[in-house]
Amino acid sequence: MVTAHVPTELEALSEKPVASASELAGRFPLTRSEHPASQAHYDTVMKELAFGREFTDHMAHMRWTQESGWHDRGVIPYGPLSLAPAASVLHYAQSVFEGLKAYRHDDASIWIFRPSYNAARLNHSAKRLALPEVETEDFLASLVDYVRADAKWVPEGEGASLYLRPFMFASEEFVGVHPAGVVDYYVIGSPSGPYFTAGFTGVPIWVVRGYHRAGPGGTGSAKCGGNYAASLMPQQQAAEKGFSQVCFLDSYEEKYIEELGGMNMFVVMADGSVRTPELSGVILEGGTRSAICRLLRDEGVDVREERIGIDDLVADIRSGKVTEVFACGTAAVVTPIARLASDDFDVEVPIGERTRHIHQRLTDIQWGRASDPYGWMYRID
Ligand code: COI
Repeated sequence: MVTAHVPTELEALSEKPVASASELAGRFPLTRSEHPASQAHYDTVMKELAFGREFTDHMAHMRWTQESGWHDRGVIPYGPLSLAPAASVLHYAQSVFEGLKAYRHDDASIWIFRPSYNAARLNHSAKRLALPEVETEDFLASLVDYVRADAKWVPEGEGASLYLRPFMFASEEFVGVHPAGVVDYYVIGSPSGPYFTAGFTGVPIWVVRGYHRAGPGGTGSAKCGGNYAASLMPQQQAAEKGFSQVCFLDSYEEKYIEELGGMNMFVVMADGSVRTPELSGVILEGGTRSAICRLLRDEGVDVREERIGIDDLVADIRSGKVTEVFACGTAAVVTPIARLASDDFDVEVPIGERTRHIHQRLTDIQWGRASDPYGWMYRID
């Protein structure tokens, strides 16, 4: 039986009406860079789009203090930050971030995907890390003013976008352990091509045993730097074996799949249903995950958010009961998983039609090739 989906808190918050970009523009006044990229550098960057390596001329910034709240909003020249060596983020990792993309449509207009969802998640993460929350409209305004200032850096073409990275961190100069009284928020952007350069060919994933990304009551559902730091050593070991990413298992029993180093996972069954690990409080509630669940459910697909045992998954891939497995995230979009391996198994997974279809359906909305019945796209410029 297909059960009705109850919107999560983040989904409900992301549906609230917000002001348009024109209404918000100007909250972060622009101080233009005196040293923008040269035409030659700009041309090279935009021609050879990599993921997350090159950055635009400006960045948005605001500061929070206990006394004054958020203030000093502005879009300023991109450049190195000046930070006290005692800044608490450097010692206790009190920092959170988000990832979004600005897409250029065929008529040259610029749009972002579900920014209110990211605003809600930033605040979910901030609460868990004892950082101050940001009003949704301040978050949106920081994106609007930053992207408008650097609009020329939003690339065009299939798979190309300006990857946006809002982040905030504890900048108070204090080595005692307490929630910081001074916090800085920035938005930087990187004109980017696909996260996985091999295209839609499927990535090999190593299922890690012995290391975990997060545990119950920890910070697994927050998008905080520490979770990614914890994923790096297993990721490095997997890369040495030739794998693109790792899949983490639950930390109680090491039986159930949770998520990859920075992406959610979906499993397609031969009976047409689709499964994804449930939101246990340990995994990240991905905006792409949420959108895929919605798109599939609205097509009548039975989408089950539940525990997925790794032994069952491997057996079901071998028997053909599972026909496709894919990863998803803002950076990864929808990426087929072609191989799952660990010390005790190694299975190949076909790249199938369902993965291709959901990739197409989602990216058609994001790049404005299909209508957007959900109001997910927010026009920036
Ligand atoms: C994103 O998908 O935006 C992320 O933050 C994940 C990271 C691996 C780039």
